[in-house]
Amino acid sequence: MNPIKVGLLGIGTVGSGTFNVLKRNQEEIRRRAGRGIEIAVVADLNTERARELTGGTVDVVSDANDVVTRPDIDIVVELIGGYGIARELVLKAIENGKHVVTANKALLAVHGNEIFEAARKKGVIVAFEAAVAGGIPIIKALREGLTANRIQWIAGIINGTTNFILSEMRDKGLDFDTVLKEAQQLGYAEADPTFDIEGIDAAHKVTLMSAIAFGMPVQFDRAHVEGITRLAAIDIKYAEELGYRIKLLGITRRREEGVELRVHPTLVPASRLIANVEGAMNAVLVQGDAVGATLYYGKGAGAEPTASAVIADLVDVTRLHTADPNHRVPHLAFQPDELSTVPVLPIDEVTSSYYLRMRVADQTGVLAEITRILAEGGISIDAMLQKESREGEPQTDIIILTHLTREKQINVAIASIEALQTVLSPVTRLRMEELN
Ligand code: HSE
Repeated sequence: MNPIKVGLLGIGTVGSGTFNVLKRNQEEIRRRAGRGIEIAVVADLNTERARELTGGTVDVVSDANDVVTRPDIDIVVELIGGYGIARELVLKAIENGKHVVTANKALLAVHGNEIFEAARKKGVIVAFEAAVAGGIPIIKALREGLTANRIQWIAGIINGTTNFILSEMRDKGLDFDTVLKEAQQLGYAEADPTFDIEGIDAAHKVTLMSAIAFGMPVQFDRAHVEGITRLAAIDIKYAEELGYRIKLLGITRRREEGVELRVHPTLVPASRLIANVEGAMNAVLVQGDAVGATLYYGKGAGAEPTASAVIADLVDVTRLHTADPNHRVPHLAFQPDELSTVPVLPIDEVTSSYYLRMRVADQTGVLAEITRILAEGGISIDAMLQKESREGEPQTDIIILTHLTREKQINVAIASIEALQTVLSPVTRLRMEELN
């Protein structure tokens, strides 16, 4: 049988990784897919570099429109990124009857509903394994491997840049700005790291996981997003003393009233496997009602790890493209007419445990006033740490860990605590998850 023909949009890091792995492993991939998979054309603005990378073996064009409309192309691989031109090209590829494989989490988290609907109408596949956690087959696991389960929650370290920064802050006791600069020098962080450090990249990814775990439309605009830019080294240290690590987690949880969808720095017990995921690695913990907890670990970025996911999608499409569209795995794991309208809960309605740090005057009755406010708010204390005050400085740090409480309750209590004259700093508040 003739090879299936692929058009590649963008031959940067992931594109060249895809080209190289497909070439290196072509025989094994052909045996798995049932026919060869051949990149026939590459579109890249830098045509000279694209020719160099592909060794003159494929057509190279500068205009991606020439690929998405080209009659002999069966699958378009979109590796351009972003929401703008990528959206236009993906929709045009679908319109022209092409299947699409993409690593573009931002595009799908924001425009996924429109793109999946367009694909459904045309009977084509949009596959996106590489969009979440790079080489970890988490989309496959959620959509297929765990399909028997009512998924209860997912918590993931799904941004390698921020995990690298947090690991360095903890290991070396350095502050955020210093480590960010180091990460940029080492090439771990982009020159403009905003999407990573502000939690937006992780929010794109958890939005996609949430949609396929709970069978609801993608709703990035409803996600609560906090990055790590305001995280202080002192909180990492105090968390450690209390037996916790701080990780930037993407969390989505099914609750009776709706679904939680949030990204923020989170205290996790140091004994959990996921708390020990260090450096730029990713890990996703999924709790299903039948299987219990399952943990997926691996490289979340990089040329060949991401290529591994792109090619897995290419093989899936190659196997399935002649199947009746109704017999394929639905884009969002649930049949498109069975998607749920369950709301994404506002952050005020989220339930979590909390870490509270405050600077207080070291005098009689301060702690009693703080605990009274918490008790009046119905907030139960789980643990407490008071640091010794330094000589000649009658001030000290108090750290309180709470049991589960609703975010709006903790906000009310924090406002009352901050109004106390003996509380000398704003309260630093971080969320905690036991993940058990
Ligand atoms: N920039 C991401 C990360 C990889 O640091 O994990 C691509 O989503």
